[in-house]
Parts: sequence; C-alpha cells; structure tokens
Amino acid sequence: MKGLYSALVASAITGALAAPSPVEQGPITARAANAACATPVTLSGNPFASRSIYANKEYSKEVVAAAASMTDSSLAAAASKVANVGTFLWIDTRARIAVVEDNLKDVPCDQIAAQVIYDLPGRDCAAKASNGELAAGDVATYKTGYIDPIVAIYKKYPNTAIALIIEPDSLPNLVTNSKLQTCQDSASGYREGVAYALKQLNLPNIIMYIDAGHGGWLGWNDNLKPGAKELATVYKNAGSPKQVRGISTNVAGWNAWDLSPGEFSKATDAQWNKCQNEKIYVETFGPELKSAGMPSMAIIDTGRNAVTGLRKEWGDWCNVNGAGFGVRPTSTTGSSYADAFVWVKPGGESDGTSDTSATRYDSYCGKDDAFKPAPEAGTWNQAYFEALVKNAKPAF
Ligand code: BGC
Repeated sequence: MKGLYSALVASAITGALAAPSPVEQGPITARAANAACATPVTLSGNPFASRSIYANKEYSKEVVAAAASMTDSSLAAAASKVANVGTFLWIDTRARIAVVEDNLKDVPCDQIAAQVIYDLPGRDCAAKASNGELAAGDVATYKTGYIDPIVAIYKKYPNTAIALIIEPDSLPNLVTNSKLQTCQDSASGYREGVAYALKQLNLPNIIMYIDAGHGGWLGWNDNLKPGAKELATVYKNAGSPKQVRGISTNVAGWNAWDLSPGEFSKATDAQWNKCQNEKIYVETFGPELKSAGMPSMAIIDTGRNAVTGLRKEWGDWCNVNGAGFGVRPTSTTGSSYADAFVWVKPGGESDGTSDTSATRYDSYCGKDDAFKPAPEAGTWNQAYFEALVKNAKPAF
C-alpha cells in the first residue's frame, strides 16, 4: 500500500509515468490480500518490508494471563498491549513441534510467521542454562525427530510466509569457545545439524537468518573473519540455499542499536572491538560475510534492549536486572544491512534459573546484575515481565 501510494504521488509530481488506472480504495486491499493468500508465497528481498510479524498464540497467552494477574490496573493495561507485538515462537524441544501448526494456520496474508529453530544436540555448549534435550552427537535425532517433522508441517502451508532464525548461539560458540570440551563435543553436530536445517528448510515461503551472536561476541577484531568463515562454510556445505538471507544478531541480548559511544566503549579492552553497538556490528560483519561468500542482511532483536548501563560486563547475558522492552518490530532501520528490528526472546520468559542447586544453574544467572529469583530458562517470570513493561522504551 505504501509503495503504491508513493508511486502515485511520484507520478503526479513528475508526470513522467503514464497515468495510473483508477484505483479503488479499501476493498481492493482486501481482495489483493485474499488473492495473495490463495497462492503460494515466494519470498525474496526483505520479507518484513511488506509484512508485519504474526503475534503467536503461545506468547500472547502468557502475556494475557500475566496482565490478568496484575492488581495495578494501569500497568495491566500497558502489559496487555505486549500481547499484540509480533514475537518469535521458539521450537525448543521436539514436544514443542505440537504448537507449530496452530501458529501457522491463522496467519493473515499480510503477516509473516516468525519462529526459532533451537534444538541442536549438545545445545548451549558454553553455558548451562539452556542445555537441551539432545545429547551431543545425536544429530540423527535432530534430523529425523526434529527438523523433518517441522519441514513436513511447513510444507502444508506454502501460502504462508515464514521467517526463521536458525540455532541461536551455536556457530558463534564454535568460534570463541572451542577450548571447552563441551563445545568440542558439540562442534560436528552443530555444523552438520545447521547445514541440514538450512537445506531442508529451503522452501520458497521461508526466509532464514543464521544466528551470529552480537557485537560483543563476534564483533571483536580477532573474531570477525573466523566468525564469517564459520557461518559461510556451513552455509556453503548446505548448498548455498537461496532462502538464506543473512544473520540474526542480539538474540535474547541487551545491546543498543546505535548508542554512541557504545555502552562498553570505555572498557579497558574496547580498543580491540570496533563493534560497540549492533549497527556497527551488522555493518562490519556484513561485508565480512559477503567476502566469505554468504548473504549478509541482518535482523536484530530489540525486545529487551531499552535500558543500557545495567550490565557490569558486556558478556553478562542472564536476566539482566532493570531491562525494558525495546523498539517494536519494524523494517525501518536506517541501515542498508538491517532488514528489521524484531522481538525474538519473548520478554518475561527467563534466560536461566537462579536456583544454585538446579542442574542447569549457570553462575551468570547468580551474578550481581542478574534478576533474582528466576525460574528455569524459557519459563515465565512475572516480576521480570512487570519490570520490562515499566521500563519499556517507547512506553506502552
Ligand atoms: C530457552 C528456551 C526458550 C527460549 C525462549 C531460551 O533461553 O532455553 O527453552 O524457549 O529461551 O524463552
């Protein structure tokens, strides 16, 4: 609609184009939308430019329940608006595949479903909080018990647009944490699993972004080239799938988009990292990806990055205390390397438990700047959600 409007305005001003045929207002939009929905979708270019993100039912339910349990009515009213923000749905176990179809079948034609592929064997090899259900090396189960059933569901919905983030943190961990035994044990399964996912999910109605950590991770001078090489190698091993558009960054992260000077610019080691905000990161890593032979467009998680100055160290990742919901999903980014700001981590779901006796307790979730108490990763933390709403920028 926007494109049509500006084309009309442009032709009226310049008179250079042939007079457009009369356009009906209103009804034609509905007809066009129905027509689009009745035919298979082929995604190319920025998939977010003409589509908003579907607000999935799972997160909406959590948010609606959370708002209903609030006693402060103005906070509840603000909180309930979060249910309308299109947020990624994480398929973090085989059991979770059960909700995928229900979150595809009602996606309106002018929207895009957004989901995260996240169940690699030996998942979260450099931390404990998100260790997954599949043991390192069990790539066979990942392929046949996880990826294949998801692909089968997606194939039933060729008329629905789908954006996927592929395996947050996995390849970045192989770049920077290869000294850890756990990451060594996971490495070949990650590479084979991600390549398999990219190959099998390469359907016309799907667009994929491979996770690339964030500026405080692969943005260090010494990590840029190895990082680009790691991602590009897996991409090429998958046969350079057409539907890979580039990378996701700042997933479940806290970095500001274009804060300058960057949040950690005064740290003693700052001279070794030029990527002090995510904008610089995607514009620096993007060209590296290009020269390594991989598409280089990015989507950036702005779900929880409203408040800066909270982390003691750049690498602190668990339930950062004082955080607020950030900029809403939009394809207006102001960067030729950024397709969209998106909400990937569902705000209110924990990053990891603060229970020191839990198997998946990670010491990062016990740090001074981490909110406590916090439940297991992925489960709801009401108090944390309330703080995200209160600290949101822009406000709800
Ligand atoms: C957890 C997943 C969860 C996701 C979204 C991750 O940290 O490990 O289980 O689905 O966050 O909340």
